[in-house]
Order: sequence, then C-alpha cells, then structure tokens
Amino acid sequence: MTNKEEREAHRSSQDLVNLFSVVLRTAHIHEHNNIAVTMAIDKFLYLLNHLIEIEQSISLGLVGEFFYLNDVRIRYSLEYLLNFDFLVREFKKRELGMIVFRNTLKPEDVQVFLRGFIAAGFSDTPYEAITDALEASENLETERLKKISEGGEVDARKAIKKSYFNAVSYTKGVINKIRSGEKVNIKKAKRIIETMVDQILDEEKLLLSMTAIKDYDEYTYHHSVNVSILTIALGQRLGLSKKILTELGVVALFHDIGKVEIPSDVLNKATNFTEDEWKLMKRHPVWGVKAILKLRGLDSTAIRSAIVAFEHHMNYDLSGYPKVRKKYSELDFYSRIVSLVDQYDAMTSSRVYSRIPLSPDKALSIMMERANTQLDPLLFKFFINMVGVFPIGTLVMLDSREMGLVYESDIVFADRPRVLIIIDKKGDRVNGPVVSLTEKDGNGRYYRSIVKTLDPNKYKINLAEYLL
Ligand SMILES: [Fe+2]
Ligand SMILES: [Fe+2]
Repeated sequence: MTNKEEREAHRSSQDLVNLFSVVLRTAHIHEHNNIAVTMAIDKFLYLLNHLIEIEQSISLGLVGEFFYLNDVRIRYSLEYLLNFDFLVREFKKRELGMIVFRNTLKPEDVQVFLRGFIAAGFSDTPYEAITDALEASENLETERLKKISEGGEVDARKAIKKSYFNAVSYTKGVINKIRSGEKVNIKKAKRIIETMVDQILDEEKLLLSMTAIKDYDEYTYHHSVNVSILTIALGQRLGLSKKILTELGVVALFHDIGKVEIPSDVLNKATNFTEDEWKLMKRHPVWGVKAILKLRGLDSTAIRSAIVAFEHHMNYDLSGYPKVRKKYSELDFYSRIVSLVDQYDAMTSSRVYSRIPLSPDKALSIMMERANTQLDPLLFKFFINMVGVFPIGTLVMLDSREMGLVYESDIVFADRPRVLIIIDKKGDRVNGPVVSLTEKDGNGRYYRSIVKTLDPNKYKINLAEYLL
C-alpha cells in the first residue's frame, strides 16, 4: 500500500466505527423500523460490505480503550470522539470484545444484532443475550471481552513498578555521570523507554497512575520519567507509531538535562528564588543542548532531544524563554507535546516553579486558560481527554462524607471516575473499596458525587502508599 492508500484505509476504518456507533445510538432512541435507524444501517452497510469485498471478513475488536479493525488499531479522532467513547462504553457494558462480519450483510442481519444488543443492556448476563440473538446468524459472530484476571493485574502492577523505578534510577545515573564529566550513551535510554512504550500500549492506566507519585527529594528524576510516560501516552492517543513513541519518550526524558549545571542548593531551595537564581534557572534549556551534544552515539534522536531541550519553555506562542528572534516560525511538534506535559507535571509536583504543588484539576484549569496562547489547543484537548477532569491520584471529598483517591477515570462521565475510598464515613482510615461514581440508587440519584478536591499534603496522605 502507498502512503495515500494507507491513509484512506485508515480513514474508512474510522468512518466504519463511527457509522456503527451512529446505528447503535439511533437504535437506542428509536424503534428499529424508524427511518433514522434504517438509514443509519444502510450507510453503515454500504461501507462495511465494500470493505468485506476487499478483506473477506471484518473484525471489530475492543482492547482496553481502543478499537481494532482486523487487528489494526484505529486512531482516536477528535471529530468522532463522542461516538467512539459511546461505543467503548456500550461494548464494555455488554462484555462484548469483538464482532466479526462475514459475507455480504443485509439490513436484517444488523436488525437481528440490534435486538440482541439492546436487550443485552437490560440483562444480567449481557454477553449471553447477544450470542442468543445471533445463534442463527451466519454472517455475524462475537467474542467475549477479555478481562484481565486479578492475578494478572498484580503481576502487571509489579512489572510496571519495576520499569518505572528502573527509569528513575537510570535518569539519576545519567545526571550523576554528566556531572562528573563521564560520557553517557543514549542507547540504554532507548531500551528503557521501549519497555515503557510496550507497557503503555498494554496497560496505559497502570503506568499513568505511576506518574501520580511525586518524590520531592528526587524531584528532577521523577519529573523526567513522569514527563516521558505522559508524553508517550499522549503520543499514542495521537496514533503515532511505536518507533516514534520511543523516540518521543527518550526526547522527553532528557528535556531538563540542562539542570545538571545548576548547583543543587539552588535547584532544591525551599524558599523562593532570587532574581539571580531565576536567571540561572532560565539557562537550563541552553545548557541542555550542550549536555546532549556531548552524549556518546549522537544520532537523530539526540538531535531531536537537543531541539526539545532548547524549546520546552518557549511556549506555543513563543512568549517564554529563551527569547529568540522574530523569524522563529513555530515550535517543533515534539516540543509542543513535551512542553504541555512538562507544565502539567511541574505544576502538580514541583517545588521549583511553585512552592506548593497544585491539585491535578487546578493545574488543568490553569492550563485551559493557556490553551491557544502558551499551549497548543488541539494537543491540550487530547491531553485533557487522557487525564480526565479528575486525573488519577486526585484526592477528593465526596458528598457521602468519605474521602478517596481517583483510581481510574470514566471515559464517558469525566466528572464521575472510580474512586478508592481511603477515609470512611466515620473518619477512619481504610484501604478501599473502589467505587464508581456513576452508580445510582433506585430513585436515579447518584450514591456519591465529588464535592471538592483536596490537597494531599495538607492531609498528610502519601499517594504512593495507595497507588503502589
Ligand atoms: Fe525545564
Ligand atoms: Fe521540566
């Protein structure tokens, strides 16, 4: 396939998922013989049958938060975001992991599926309701959604913890080596980041939850790794290839490398910077370029790292530092991603730029005001969609008089994540359960809602204790 054909093929798979979502959405509202439903089905089948003609059969699978069409992951498109999210939620609700379409489908085939699908929404055994409906169908087949077993999750958590701390200690090693004038090789960074890229593809949420850990004594190392992880996660939502994600992760890891030149008593100062100290701090982008150019095995990734180190405080509108001549047209694409993620992690953890770390939702609302000026607005949309309104690790007060930590975001109801209860109604410390804020009582009222977010430091709560 040529590039153009590839792009077109991708476009049509996005369209297909979107049209399928439209069919289900309209069928949720109208009777099945309603004109809106039949028209949506016709549109969907027009494209589907065309694709089946080329590919023999089409499988639409859900893995994690993403759809795969014949095993190729479909990119998230901003235009279709709501329809995609709807479909993800409805699939999950019914434990539906995959649909395989074969032969030329007729509208009746889809109608049969719709009946099963809608009925499944009210069933205690939803997946069975769908398979029952499809029993006689020759053109449609389904697979159950694969659940990560309890044991599997524990193992994944262990592996992820290991690679996270591995990356932190690697970063620490690099910085110490550069300080003592030793040569550093960039190859090892690539290997470490490659592992994390694989883990993000499989267990995005677990690895993202690690970035909620902020170690104030080892700030620079944790910050570098956190920025790298968040950058990779954002990159994967943009549909970038694994190779690019690895490069992006390495580049992000080295963005603050210029800080090696700043004396640690300044870097870790507990009080505000003097004007002179600020001047010193603002030179780290330029020092970063110098440090990177000294690395062993200089290649295109290293060059890209140097660019990002230089540009990561310049801002989308070039209002930041270092100041450059007017001719500078725009920031490198990598710089735009890294600087956005950098601001978020710095605001939520730093002792450097603000003495008191902000809660994740506060940081996001400040960033919201900066979208369009200091930050790339489109990238910010993807970012906020990724971390959610209440990012993982946010400490929240609930109207049930409980306190908890945001454990997992809900892709449809951004303001109703899953929360790990850590202080119960009586005010006692507990560890769990994890509750979903989308749960309602018999009268349709939510059991729990977020009243406000709280500062974990004020409550002497160590997030790492709960998230690890
Ligand atoms: Fe920086
Ligand atoms: Fe930074």
